Amino acid sequence: MAAAVTAAVSFPSSKSTSLSSRTSIVAPERITFKQVPFYYKDVSAGGRVVSISAQVTTEAPAKVKKESKKMEEDVVVNKFKPKNPYIGRCLLNTKITGDDAPGETWHMVFSTEGEVPYREGQSIGVIPDGIDKNGKPHKLRLYSIASSALGDFGDSKTVSLCVKRLVYVNEKGETVKGVCSNFLCDLKPGSEVKITGPVGKEMLMPKDPNATIIMLATGTGIAPFRSFLWKMFFEKHDDYKFNGLAWLFLGVPTSSSLLYKEEFEKMKEKVPNNFRLDFAVSREQTNEKGEKMYIQTRMAQYAEELWELLKKDNTYVYMCGLKGMEKGIDDIMLSLAARDGIDWLEYKRSLKKAEQWNVEVY
Ligand SMILES: Cc1cc2nc3c(=O)[nH]c(=O)nc-3n(C[C@H](O)[C@H](O)[C@H](O)COP(=O)(O)OP(=O)(O)OC[C@H]3O[C@@H](n4cnc5c(N)ncnc54)[C@H](O)[C@@H]3O)c2cc1C
Ligand SMILES: NC(=O)c1ccc[n+]([C@@H]2O[C@H](COP(=O)([O-])OP(=O)(O)OC[C@H]3O[C@@H](n4cnc5c(N)ncnc54)[C@H](OP(=O)(O)O)[C@@H]3O)[C@@H](O)[C@H]2O)c1
Repeated sequence: MAAAVTAAVSFPSSKSTSLSSRTSIVAPERITFKQVPFYYKDVSAGGRVVSISAQVTTEAPAKVKKESKKMEEDVVVNKFKPKNPYIGRCLLNTKITGDDAPGETWHMVFSTEGEVPYREGQSIGVIPDGIDKNGKPHKLRLYSIASSALGDFGDSKTVSLCVKRLVYVNEKGETVKGVCSNFLCDLKPGSEVKITGPVGKEMLMPKDPNATIIMLATGTGIAPFRSFLWKMFFEKHDDYKFNGLAWLFLGVPTSSSLLYKEEFEKMKEKVPNNFRLDFAVSREQTNEKGEKMYIQTRMAQYAEELWELLKKDNTYVYMCGLKGMEKGIDDIMLSLAARDGIDWLEYKRSLKKAEQWNVEVY
């Protein structure tokens, strides 16, 4: 499969640490990770409130999975297991959240020399260095892959992650650092990293290049969607040219925690008819009722449109991030479906069967 990359990453942040030789591919567009101020419109002005009164009575339209609609052929899983991990090297690691953001998220690229053949939507495992409190090697943690299969440098020889540094205060008032996320966020270029996998088929992209793909992300749940969107809009593939609609909803706490914002805005400029982008910034925005702007609150502003899209056979919804988002999104859908007399939970089951409702939350 011949493929050409039409975008490249560069990491200009003074805080970033990178191997400059690996970031030098020449490309017509350069995507930077610099934080820029971002201003929001008053969202309450354009918001629509949907009132629901219909009763849930009729059966959901049947959708049956005949053959997989996802890019499932030749998907590799578990090539590397914990006993025999692939040893990659960190090529670069850079903080992509602003200094005033609540928490840090880092984008990192590891070398694979093409030995970890993954697809958009898969995850890898990472075994952090060191031992646990019982003197045993640490267990692996899973991370969604944030790069397309070609990787950030377009040579199919790297894999990228988007990792939030876990730090919390426990019941005793002690500050606790998550083992693997801190190991990863502190990795210096040149350091080795033990990789397992790849794993996962739930989040693979649909085959249909004319599909509508609705992507719902909270925080680092953006990872698989960055991977999808690079394939759709920044790369050229002989066997895949996306010409459908990609609609991304991203929920983050503050505008300084908006992940990959510049890249997504570049995509929007490039293909305004194929890409829609909506942010929900929970600690800075509210809806017209003054409620916190969660991803589902933003979705509610497009209620009818979303519901119409969901009735189509080639609409695929993908959800990734915080576990809590699933219920919020179900609540919205429940109301929408009810207006057509459809039982949402039943309808969702049929969508899942048809691989049109794909969830990976944690
Ligand atoms: C399929 C999948 C994909 C994932 N993808 C990503 C990704 O792309 N990016 C990403 O950043 N993460 C991702 N994760 C989460 C990731 O696997 C790790 O769980 C996360 O990085 C924390 O691991 P850690 O080793 O740093 O923390 P650990 O040392 O494992 O500590 C985590 C534990 O700390 C405790 N804890 C956490 N917060 C609190 C709190 N506030 N109060 C009290 N106790 C607490 C809990 O017991 C929790 O289990 C993904 C998870 C899955 C299952
Ligand atoms: N494949 C996977 O399963 C996968 C992949 C990547 C990440 N993850 C997981 O996804 C999570 C992402 O966390 P993060 O720390 O990166 O995110 P974050 O930066 O804290 O952002 C999460 C956003 O979601 C909001 N939120 C909180 N509760 C919500 C709810 N019930 N419904 C909708 N939105 C809600 C938060 O708002 P407030 O904070 O203002 O309340 C915030 O705006 C992590 O737990 C990570 O492990 C899973």
